[in-house]
Amino acid sequence: MLIKNVSIENAAQASDIRVTDGKFEEIGPDLAPRAGEEVLDCTGKLVLPPFIESHVHLDTCLTAGEPVWNQSGTLFEGIRCWSLRKESLTKQDVRDRVNRAVRMQARNGVQFVRTHVDVTDPKLTAMEAMLELREELRGTVDIQVVAFPQEGIDSFPNGRRLMEDAVRMGADVVGAIPHFEFTREYAVESLNFAVELAEKYGKLVDVHCDEIDDEQSRGLEVLAARAYESGLKDRVTASHTTAMHSYNNAYVTKLMRLLKLSEINFVSNPLVNTHLQGRMDTYPKRRGVTRVKELLAEGINVSFGHDDVFDPWYPLGTGNVRDAVFMGLHVCQMMGYQEIMDSYKLISANAAKTLHLGERYGIQAGRPASFIVLDAENFYNALNQKSEVLYSFKNGRLIAKSAPAVREVLF
Ligand code: FE2
Repeated sequence: MLIKNVSIENAAQASDIRVTDGKFEEIGPDLAPRAGEEVLDCTGKLVLPPFIESHVHLDTCLTAGEPVWNQSGTLFEGIRCWSLRKESLTKQDVRDRVNRAVRMQARNGVQFVRTHVDVTDPKLTAMEAMLELREELRGTVDIQVVAFPQEGIDSFPNGRRLMEDAVRMGADVVGAIPHFEFTREYAVESLNFAVELAEKYGKLVDVHCDEIDDEQSRGLEVLAARAYESGLKDRVTASHTTAMHSYNNAYVTKLMRLLKLSEINFVSNPLVNTHLQGRMDTYPKRRGVTRVKELLAEGINVSFGHDDVFDPWYPLGTGNVRDAVFMGLHVCQMMGYQEIMDSYKLISANAAKTLHLGERYGIQAGRPASFIVLDAENFYNALNQKSEVLYSFKNGRLIAKSAPAVREVLF
């Protein structure tokens, strides 16, 4: 197949893309069609590597209001609501909702997903369902599964055993939630445990780290130190880190050296954390989103995630990770022209680094032909005009398509 006249990643010059046997064979201007080759004219359209959802909770998605709505809008009431919903959790229920959510994401150009799955459930129901779906969807939407202890590791009955069971069942990534543990000591011990578990089984690490407005919540320094000392380094990710928003600048200046040494990745979730954080404040209310702009300026890898889609922690969402970019650019004050143009990297290349996709990802000859075509000439316009993802190709196969809506103004 030959895709004609596209702008690849905002390039000013048009390119053609030849896909053969599920791989990018050739990329360049003015490629001549071969006899019998299918040609897709995409003149003036934008081609990007596929979007990546680097932080979402698929097991809880599409459950808002079941059995109760989160009235206060706080993280902790969300955990209580979910704890009630968990009582009626079945494998079929998880499978149905995740299947719907993944298709919502696919419609929006997402092809890779890292999902956290709550393992503070003695039956590990959601984990079992998610691992099945990971295999069923492999090659269409590739899912990485994090063993995520929503109610703590050392603060939940048999928390350590449940974590190890989930990893043995096949989870790809080890999680933790230090700010939710009963004490600072438990928080530190839970992080030590998570890093050691990842080392033992050769897994990645992704911690819900300091998702609280408490400026004293300092799991991040522990996680970064362990990542550095263990040599796991960029195999480790700190998600949320909203307390960093409230750290004093002197401490952040000191912390930044360790963060750079550690080479860990960050995932920020601007939609959900703008909604959840600052809830104990009167005025001014803190935004609670981590210091994305400053981390990027230091050369530290940051991606954006949606986090929650219509669940107890976030009552909106259509699985469109571009919404996280739109919000993040506002909240992080990253609205310079080039910052907006480049912002797709927060849900593509940067996220690919976090997920360790390596050569499975990227628009380059020889790599799998996974890419999306947007109805815009560059990402600035695609973001601003909420342009449709016209085509989503995974390994050379069309997995989703849309037609632009027809809208007419009648005056
Ligand atoms: Fe999360």
